[in-house]
Amino acid sequence: AEVVIVENAEAAGALVATEIVELIERRADAVLGLATGSTPLPVYQALRTQLAGRDVSQVRGFALDEYVGIDPSHPESYRSVITREVVEPLGLDPQRIHVPNGALATIQHAGDDYEVAIDAAGGVDLQILGIGTDGHIGFNEPGSSFASRTRVKTLTEQTREDNARFFDSIDDVPMHCITQGLGTILKARHLVLLAFGEGKAEAVAGAVEGPLTALLPGSAIQLHPHATIVVDEAAASRLA
Ligand code: F6R
Repeated sequence: AEVVIVENAEAAGALVATEIVELIERRADAVLGLATGSTPLPVYQALRTQLAGRDVSQVRGFALDEYVGIDPSHPESYRSVITREVVEPLGLDPQRIHVPNGALATIQHAGDDYEVAIDAAGGVDLQILGIGTDGHIGFNEPGSSFASRTRVKTLTEQTREDNARFFDSIDDVPMHCITQGLGTILKARHLVLLAFGEGKAEAVAGAVEGPLTALLPGSAIQLHPHATIVVDEAAASRLA
């Protein structure tokens, strides 16, 4: 993978946003792979300026994951987050932006349905990724198969603690999620993994330089022919 060390998260956001704008210039109906959490926010922020005045009506997108067991209208559902941080500020067509369906009633088919939708769109052109402190990408927690497809997973205690900041208390953080699998993520044509801060340094080193292991799901990116890692100095600090 190509590692790009940048000054700060804002610079990373501008860099990745430029890449996305160029993609959309080449292909008006580009398919973006959208991450949630804090890490991609500078990208979405930079896109507000960089995409202003451009035609984004054909742009398509697939979110990485969604919580299971909270209503889509909950402000911290990833459906809500993607609407608030991406669809509305960038003026994307909500019909073209997909988030896995975490509703219990349809959960048995939701993973397969999502895979079919991604394939029908011709696959993801550029997948934005963050990484968990435990090395997860998407919500593929340690132990996830490299061949996995979109499915329900149990969140680790670590991830629930990490994400408690978005909820009133850790007890409100869902136990389960539906996430693109590592095999799903690896099908995207270009992976762009971002990470900022000392807390991500170990996960980044493991993903980029460590052994290929299901214990550090981010190491799956080493199997991808076109992966770009954009990090600040702190997140790069454990790289050889
Ligand atoms: C989010 C996702 C997760 C996050 C990771 C890091 O859609 O799939 O893998 O990217 O948990 O979260 P932040 O960016 O909040 O540190």
